[in-house]
Amino acid sequence: MNNHNYDSQAVFSPITRSAIFIVATLNPAPEHYDTVRDWCADVAALVRSVGKRAPAGKLSCVCGFGSGAWNTLFGQPRPAQLHPFREIGAGGRVAVATPGDILLHIRADDMDLCFELATQLLDKLGDAVSVIDEVHGFRYFDQRAMIGFVDGTENPEGREAVDFTVIGEEDAEFSGGSYALVQKYLHDMTGWNALSVEQQEGIIGRHKQSNIELDDDVKPSSSHSSLTTLEDEYGNEVKILRDNMPFGRPGMREFGTYFIGYARSPEPIEQMLENMFIGRPEGNYDRLLDFSHAVTGSLFFIPSATLLEQLSTRTLPVNLH
Ligand code: HEM
Repeated sequence: MNNHNYDSQAVFSPITRSAIFIVATLNPAPEHYDTVRDWCADVAALVRSVGKRAPAGKLSCVCGFGSGAWNTLFGQPRPAQLHPFREIGAGGRVAVATPGDILLHIRADDMDLCFELATQLLDKLGDAVSVIDEVHGFRYFDQRAMIGFVDGTENPEGREAVDFTVIGEEDAEFSGGSYALVQKYLHDMTGWNALSVEQQEGIIGRHKQSNIELDDDVKPSSSHSSLTTLEDEYGNEVKILRDNMPFGRPGMREFGTYFIGYARSPEPIEQMLENMFIGRPEGNYDRLLDFSHAVTGSLFFIPSATLLEQLSTRTLPVNLH
């Protein structure tokens, strides 16, 4: 049981119709580091200011920091399991590792709220950061992923979601925090749509129309749902919390899924990626990857709401600047 305080950022936001994902890098200069630290104390107020203009809009924001940025901005102590995302896979099937110092995961029902908050948050950051990736995601028909299957069904809920995603006594100084792994995937929709529905169902492990899981005796061990199901050493299932969003530009033939997974340790998310990209056992990989490739990948620590505010007053020894 997890005895942390319930002070997380909005990791458990209700499902929303829109989201903006922003990954930025820090621009090197001590004054920029000061700007980002000061900004940490402003985030919550900005979310309140924009959100109160449309209280039913479910506006929320989660922000996180990559491993290198943590050192530069905040030094010691460090979240115990924060490290740069390490590439997983080989050959044509690779979960790439790409730069990322700051993550913003902004969610709301209407894109105008997300857009306004992103604008305000980035205005305050000014020249201190360079945005290297920005994705505007939308909720597709009946919560389906771009590939046409309902996404998010097996997400943990309530107390279970808290237990799987929020750090507790195992890293007491960072309790209330989480880790988030993001990846931007692009799909070959022509190839995917050329498969029969039965072939697609074998790849995902669920029925497309009804969203019901395939029976164990017909579900391939290479299916996405099999390879992302993990058990701990006692045989208990280990879950993560996902809020993937479709995105794209049909005119450019761009069809994508922005993957975001939250957990109290990076380990289960990385294990799922190993199962998908390398295979369980090796070679028995996720066929979804024959039609999808990752173009970004980064790991972030998500401080608790209280810690985020306190980070603004961290002072660092001069040599770390
Ligand atoms: C399940 C889509 C990437 C972890 C699912 C499901 C769909 C889906 C449709 C079945 C319904 C559900 O339970 O949500 C996608 C797409 C991806 C993607 C389109 C990107 C191309 C990933 C990645 C991970 C992951 C990178 C982990 C690192 C999971 C987990 C489940 C799941 C844990 C639930 C498995 C279960 O308990 O049955 N995904 N997914 N997915 N996915 Fe993904």
